[in-house]
Amino acid sequence: MGAISKPLLLAILCCIVCLYSSSGGAIVAAARELGGDAAMAARHERWMAQHGRVYKDAAEKARRLEVFKANVAFIESFNAGGKNRYWLGVNQFADLTSEEFKATMTNNKGFSTPNGARVSTGFKYENVSADALPASVDWRTKGAVTPIKDQGQCGCCWAFSAVAAMEGIVKLSTGKLISLSEQELVDCDVDGNDHGCEGGEMDGAFQFILSNGGLTAEANYPYTAEDGQCKTTAAASVAASIRGYEDVPANDEPSLMKAVAGQPVSVAVDASKFQFYGGGVMAGECGTSLDHGVTVIGYGAASDGTKYWLVKNSWGTTWGEAGYLRMEKDIDDKRGMCGLAMQPSYPTA
Ligand SMILES: *[C@@H]1O[C@H](CO)[C@@H](O)[C@H](O)[C@H]1NC(C)=O
Repeated sequence: MGAISKPLLLAILCCIVCLYSSSGGAIVAAARELGGDAAMAARHERWMAQHGRVYKDAAEKARRLEVFKANVAFIESFNAGGKNRYWLGVNQFADLTSEEFKATMTNNKGFSTPNGARVSTGFKYENVSADALPASVDWRTKGAVTPIKDQGQCGCCWAFSAVAAMEGIVKLSTGKLISLSEQELVDCDVDGNDHGCEGGEMDGAFQFILSNGGLTAEANYPYTAEDGQCKTTAAASVAASIRGYEDVPANDEPSLMKAVAGQPVSVAVDASKFQFYGGGVMAGECGTSLDHGVTVIGYGAASDGTKYWLVKNSWGTTWGEAGYLRMEKDIDDKRGMCGLAMQPSYPTA
């Protein structure tokens, strides 16, 4: 840009405007575009207020407005004409590029273990008859699911996924639903493959919980959304424990169904399509580069007959269906929608 003098640049710009203005329709379009910009800036302001977003300066705000505009355009074009079976929403992630979103919200270091190397101690549901399974399951209706949590800007989805599965089996085996501590995993489970906000694995979390003799309550070791020093006294005050953990056979949705009929199950997914998910049954194209941990808490069929997995996420209630997600079940690809059948596991009690 340095080579072009300012007057020349102005002249070029002026030319474009003059050319654009030479037809009446173009002037109307230009005016509408300007109006659209003002409306979009106002919409960004409202969105900022709604999500409590504050930017450090005007330059950052201007940059975020551009990202917001591009994201809103993408969301509206995705939703247009109802061509997809699910829809997207302008949620709390609407001012982040997909790269920024991936960097902070998903798991950078986890799920590195090849399937063959997963330590499976058996599959307790292997002899369950498929015919005996209920047509639909929703563990919320049995009081086995705590309210939706929010991991914030920390990539410890693996901790939330493991804790939700553990909360489920603890409720089913003891009758008590206890919200358990993700922060204990973030701070204290640091000697294996788990790296707090930088990522980890659900099986690693179960292994830590096993070695630690259990996990403390959320109330006793609250979430801070950042890596911290292990609070050993709080960690020693165990609120619930597990006997072990098992892997569901990989790439086998019928086996996953048997397990989910028995209890909530941790799964790893490719979250590249997750950022703006607003509702419906996620279907169609998705990757299988596992980078996010969530918990399957049921399954069922939508009114149009589409079968789905019911999934608990950890991105607050303003994301998805009040914090939950439905993903198509029994698809042709054995790895499952977004790879969800590749590495499922669950704790035992
Ligand atoms: C399933 O059945 C087989 C054959 O009877 C048996 O060997 C195996 O232990 C059973 N598995 C479980 C988890 O009960």
